[in-house]
Amino acid sequence: MREVTPKKIREMKGREKITMVTAYDYPSALLADKAGIDVVFVGDSLGMVVYGDENTLNVSMEQMVFHTRAVAKAVKRALVLADMPFGSYEVSVEEGIKNAVRLIQAGADAVKIEGGADHEKLVRKLVRMGIPVMGHTGLTPQRYLRLGGYRLMGETEEEIEEILRDAKALERAGAFAVVLEFTLADVAKLVTEEVSIPTIGIGSGPWVDGQVLVWHDLLGVYENVPPFVKKYADLASIIRLALESYREDVKTGKFPGREHYWEFLDKDDFRRKAQKALQRIGDKPTE
Ligand code: KIV
Repeated sequence: MREVTPKKIREMKGREKITMVTAYDYPSALLADKAGIDVVFVGDSLGMVVYGDENTLNVSMEQMVFHTRAVAKAVKRALVLADMPFGSYEVSVEEGIKNAVRLIQAGADAVKIEGGADHEKLVRKLVRMGIPVMGHTGLTPQRYLRLGGYRLMGETEEEIEEILRDAKALERAGAFAVVLEFTLADVAKLVTEEVSIPTIGIGSGPWVDGQVLVWHDLLGVYENVPPFVKKYADLASIIRLALESYREDVKTGKFPGREHYWEFLDKDDFRRKAQKALQRIGDKPTE
């Protein structure tokens, strides 16, 4: 069992800020874990930042299982959380359970679903059978068609009510935390005060129990990032520069350098061996 458990995440509320970052493969998960991040999250943002999709609606269970498996192999300390993709839990509670089980069997410690009140029954069932669940409200990208795009949530009374209703339903059903995505900071603060489970914000201001960001956004892999992102690195420039140098070195013969290859010191010895090998090969077909 990993060191960071859903119980520990719950206990961090009001004591210590929770850190969460997405990771979709072995090397990024390894680095996130070594950096001491609390939750390494295989998000369905995978579809957009890794596969180049326009939205998250085409991410399949198969993709989530593959990537969860790679991430789970790398992480020793952090909690490994896997997203339930669009269409994997909405049709029936039974199907939701079956798909959550697949993610746990791929190595996740917990699953995340978008929404709250609509899935109270599923969350309760999963928790009862031993699968920890994190909810997600505010901007829920799997519903972006209905929401009318990726936009700030919580401006109207109705939206505030829906966000609160989701968070409370998740708390009631036994979820161990809830993501609040792109809500007005005052709404995130209200929810954080109103529920006993930790709130993890993304684009929702500072008055929450933790923060989550997408790997490619925070590391500057892409030029364009959502307005709430702080870029902690400019990996795009670093990677491009490295690739251009590599290309230049190969073209000009600078790579490989003398330290990157091995040769026979005794060239006569090599010629003898090569000649024998050539004779043995002759013109015979290899079959
Ligand atoms: O899939 C994802 O990356 C997410 C985060 C934005 C929380 O759901």
